[in-house]
Amino acid sequence: ALVDKGGFPHHMLREIYEAPLSLLRTLYTLQEKYLQLASRLILGADNIYIIANGTSLHAGMVASYYLSELVGVSPVVTSAAEFPLYYVENIGPGSLVVAISQSGETGDVLSSLYEAKIRGATILGLTNYIGSRLARLSNVYLPIAAGPELSVPATKTFTSTLLLLYLVSLAASKESGRIDSITYREKMESVKSVASRLSETMTRMDEEVKKAIIHARNCRGGYIVSRGITYPLALEAALKLKEASYFHAEGVEAGEFKHGPFVLVEKGFMTGFIIPVERLAAEATYPLILSAIEAGASTVVFSLEGDEKLSQIQTETVSLIRTPRAERHLAPIAYSIPLQLFAYRLGVDLGRPIDAPRYLTKAVLR
Ligand code: AGP
Repeated sequence: ALVDKGGFPHHMLREIYEAPLSLLRTLYTLQEKYLQLASRLILGADNIYIIANGTSLHAGMVASYYLSELVGVSPVVTSAAEFPLYYVENIGPGSLVVAISQSGETGDVLSSLYEAKIRGATILGLTNYIGSRLARLSNVYLPIAAGPELSVPATKTFTSTLLLLYLVSLAASKESGRIDSITYREKMESVKSVASRLSETMTRMDEEVKKAIIHARNCRGGYIVSRGITYPLALEAALKLKEASYFHAEGVEAGEFKHGPFVLVEKGFMTGFIIPVERLAAEATYPLILSAIEAGASTVVFSLEGDEKLSQIQTETVSLIRTPRAERHLAPIAYSIPLQLFAYRLGVDLGRPIDAPRYLTKAVLR
């Protein structure tokens, strides 16, 4: 509370607004030689485990799509709380453990790393604090470089972590010969344009979010539904809604929606949809939106700009929030902003403490 909020009522809002700048900071702080080292670790590993907690774990889940699509490797992604109990037996000198922690001090991440190191694994650490224990335990570490984050609900560090994981995967893709240098450079350029588009559209998105809040404020809970590379974003949005708004929400994989979750959908229940970036997955989502509307749910749709299909679905029970269209792998970054704003605005509307949710601390040491 003693730290300047730069004119914003809460650190969380200031930090969301800072995200585009933090993305550039992440991009420019990263040195080519460390990226290359990290890529070699990825390409040389017999098996890869990504371990983290909470928001960092959701970033790790997105990274599994990056690595599998850009590098052709399928990492095991697991909570750092599960790793030492159920996974370490398979860890050996050929294993690479990618540990993600904003604070670099999360107890479960550190104890996982001790266990992994004892068994000879190599550690690639990603952290926002280069003086942290995570950095010291890593064979190679990469700075998230989002700048200090004071709000307990993580925001700009999430977007910057996503970017860092994307850049590492891209570098490994280039190193393995899957993409050439020209494509690599083009993709780097598109990172800059996403950052500037997000900054240009921030206020407009925030206005759309403020209007959408009416669809959640009187609801007893809700779902955030998505699929594919944006499914971890649904989990992350649900976590942010709990922390910042004390609003019970659950992330649902769109294909699972009709296998049970749909039963709760009715008037007084919120259903949020993040339209997937893959065309077929997006098309499979539209009928779900219609079903939710028909069931009387308050519906909020997060989409990419220029989604024409959605202009047909406009009733008073639906709100539409648009984020800049970004290429597939950058879409999770683009979607993060309106989802974080939504949790923030709902929290403000419901009078929640926002920056300091009860029981929670910025780093869960043990
Ligand atoms: C994020 O909003 C939460 N406060 C929490 O889930 C957090 O991401 C988790 O505790 C992990 O923290 P870390 O990244 O510092 O390891």
